[in-house]
Amino acid sequence: MSKLEGHIALVTGGNIPITGGNSGIGLAAAQEFDRESTRVAVKLEHVTRTYRRDAFEVRALDDVSLTIPTQGFVAIMGPSGSGKTTLLNLLAGIDHATSGSVVVGDEELTTMNDRELAAWRARHIGLVFQFYNLLPVLTAFENVELPLLLTHLSKAERKTHVESALKAVDLADRMEHYPRQLSGGQEQRVAIARAIVTDPTILIADEPTGDLDAKSAEEILLLLTQLNRQYHKTIVMVTHDPRSERFVDTVYRLDKGVFIGSTTGGMSATPLQPSE
Ligand SMILES: Nc1ncnc2c1ncn2[C@@H]1O[C@H](COP(=O)(O)OP(=O)(O)O)[C@@H](O)[C@H]1O
Ligand SMILES: [Mg+2]
Repeated sequence: MSKLEGHIALVTGGNIPITGGNSGIGLAAAQEFDRESTRVAVKLEHVTRTYRRDAFEVRALDDVSLTIPTQGFVAIMGPSGSGKTTLLNLLAGIDHATSGSVVVGDEELTTMNDRELAAWRARHIGLVFQFYNLLPVLTAFENVELPLLLTHLSKAERKTHVESALKAVDLADRMEHYPRQLSGGQEQRVAIARAIVTDPTILIADEPTGDLDAKSAEEILLLLTQLNRQYHKTIVMVTHDPRSERFVDTVYRLDKGVFIGSTTGGMSATPLQPSE
C-alpha cells in the first residue's frame, strides 16, 4: 500500500484499491429516482457475528434481522458492548458476518471478497467517526480532497467537488484552515464533507457527536438532518446521545447483540424510561 493509500485507508475504513470513483458529487442534483422509490437501503437477515476470544465465543450480533429504508435517517442505540459498531462495520463492508445475509443497496456483501468489498465501499459508503480522523498536516480542502485522489477525476473536477462538499457543510470560508485552527464542531463538519465528497449511497456515522459540547452536537445533528432532507442521503448513525432521537426517523435498539425493536424518532420520540 502506498503512503497515499495508507492515508485514505484511515478515512475509508480499510485498504482501498484504485477505483473509477463516482461520476460526481450529486449534491446539487439529488436522485429523483431514489426519492420516488420505496427501496430498502439495508436488509439484514439472520445476521450473526461471533468473535473468538481464547476459549470463549463472543456473540457481538445474534440473529439480527432488520431493514433500513432508502433515504432514511436512523439511529442505532444500545448500551456499550451491545454490537452497534459491529453492525456498522458489517454495513460498511469493513467486517464480515459469521452467518446470515447483508444486502446494502442492491448488493449482497457476504459473498464479496476483501478486494471487492473495498472497491464497493469506496463507491457507496461515507464514514464519519467520533474523533474526526482529519490529517493535521493537511488543510480542510486537502482533507476533503483525499478520497478523490485515487479516482479518475481531474484536478479541476476535484476542486469543484471539494468546494461543493465544503459549502454543503457551511465551511466555504475555512478551506485553507488546518484542523488545529478549527473548533471540534468545525472539524467534524470537515470530516462530514470528506465523507460526502464521493457522493456515497449511505453515510455511516459512529458516535459523531460523542466528543462535542451540546451546542456543537446539535449543529452536527442539524447538518445531518439537512443532508438527509435536502440531498436525500441515507444516514445510519450510532449514538449514545438521547437528544439524537428528535432528529432521526427511527431508532433501532440493540441489547447484548440482539435487535430488540425500533421506535419512531422525531418530535414524538418516546421520553427515556427511568430504567434506561
Ligand atoms: N475485534 C473483536 N474481537 C473480539 N471481540 C470483539 C471485537 N469487536 C467487538 N468485540 C466484542 O463484541 C461486542 C460488541 O462490540 P461493539 O460492536 O464494539 O459494541 P458497541 O459499539 O455497541 O459498544 C463486545 O462484547 C466486544 O467486546
Ligand atoms: Mg461502538
